[in-house]
Amino acid sequence: MDNLERIVGDALSQFSSIDDAAELEQAKARFLGKTGALTELLKALGKLPAEERREAGSSINAAKVKLESALAQRRDALAQKQLDARLAEEALDVTLPGRGAGRGRVHPITRTQDRIEAIFRSIGFEVADGPEIETDWNNFTALNNPENHPARSMQDTFYVENLDADGRPLLLRTHTSPMQVRYARMHTPPIKVIAPGRTYRVDSDATHSPMFHQVEGLWIDEDISFADLKGVYTAFLRRFFETEELEVRFRPSFFPFTEPSAEIDMAFGAGPNKGKWLEISGAGQVHPSVIRNFGLDPEKYIGFAFGSGMERLAMLRYGINDLRLFYDGDLRFLQQFA
Ligand code: PHE
Repeated sequence: MDNLERIVGDALSQFSSIDDAAELEQAKARFLGKTGALTELLKALGKLPAEERREAGSSINAAKVKLESALAQRRDALAQKQLDARLAEEALDVTLPGRGAGRGRVHPITRTQDRIEAIFRSIGFEVADGPEIETDWNNFTALNNPENHPARSMQDTFYVENLDADGRPLLLRTHTSPMQVRYARMHTPPIKVIAPGRTYRVDSDATHSPMFHQVEGLWIDEDISFADLKGVYTAFLRRFFETEELEVRFRPSFFPFTEPSAEIDMAFGAGPNKGKWLEISGAGQVHPSVIRNFGLDPEKYIGFAFGSGMERLAMLRYGINDLRLFYDGDLRFLQQFA
C-alpha cells in the first residue's frame, strides 16, 4: 500500500502543477485511464489473498474518488482561468467618452425640392414621382417632338443599351416632361400635379451638369388659362424667395409640347446687378396634340405646364455661382446648409 500513497501523491502534485486543459487530460489517463497506475492496482487486486483484498479494494477506491475530485477541481480552475484571461483581453472601458454618430444633413438640392413641394402642396398640387429611364415615346414622341428633332440626337441624350417595347432604345429622361404623359394617362381631370426629379443631358460646365434636377408642373381642367399659369408661377416664386416684390417676366419662346410657349425669367440682384433677368423655367399652354396623347379630348380640356431647373432655383436662393459644387461632395460646402 506504500505504492498507493506514492501514486496518489504523484497524481495530486502533477494535477496541481498542470496549467493546460489538454495536458491535464493526459495526466488523468496516466493514473485513471485503462492502463493508468491506479487502474493497474485495481486489476492486481485479484492476486491478493482474500483477507487483504477487501481492505486494499476500499483504499484504492477511496484514492480513486480523491483523484477524481482533485481532477474536477483542477478542470474548473483551469476553465475559470481561461475565462478570466478572455474577459481581461476583451475588456471595454465603459467610462471612455463615446465617439457619437456624425450627424448628416439634408443636401441643398433636397432642401430646395422639399421647399418646392411644400409650396405647391399648399396650393392644391399633388406630388408625383416617376422613372429616370424612359421610353422614347414618353420623353419625345408623346410630347410632339418630331422624329428628327435635334434633342433626340446622341449629343444631347444619354441612351441605354436596352430597347423598349417599340424596339427603340431606352434613354435617361432629358426633362421631367414625360411625367406629364405618365400622370395624365393615369388620372382624370382636374389634373394638378408637380413631378420633381433627376434628369440627364450630355452637358457639363459651370451652369450645366450631366445629371440635374427639374420640377415639372401640370394643371389640366376645362378652363385653365395662361393667366392661371402666370398667377400660380408668380405666387410660387414669391413664396420660394420670400419676397412679394419679386418681378417675373414671361417671354415668348418655343417648345413642341406647348402653344403658346414662354420662358419664365425673374429679376434678380441689387446694385450693379439690378435689372438683370435670369431664366428659371420653360412653360406654356399644353399643345392640343399632347392633350390627345394624354388620352383626353383637346376640345374639352386645356391647361398649362412648366418645367423648372431646380439647381437654378437653389443657386439663386443660396447665392451659389457654380452648379458643380452641388455634386463635388465637398463637406466644407455641404455643411453650410444646416
Ligand atoms: N421640358 C422643358 C425643358 O426641359 C421645359 C418645359 C416644361 C417647357 C413644360 C414647357 C412646358 O426645357
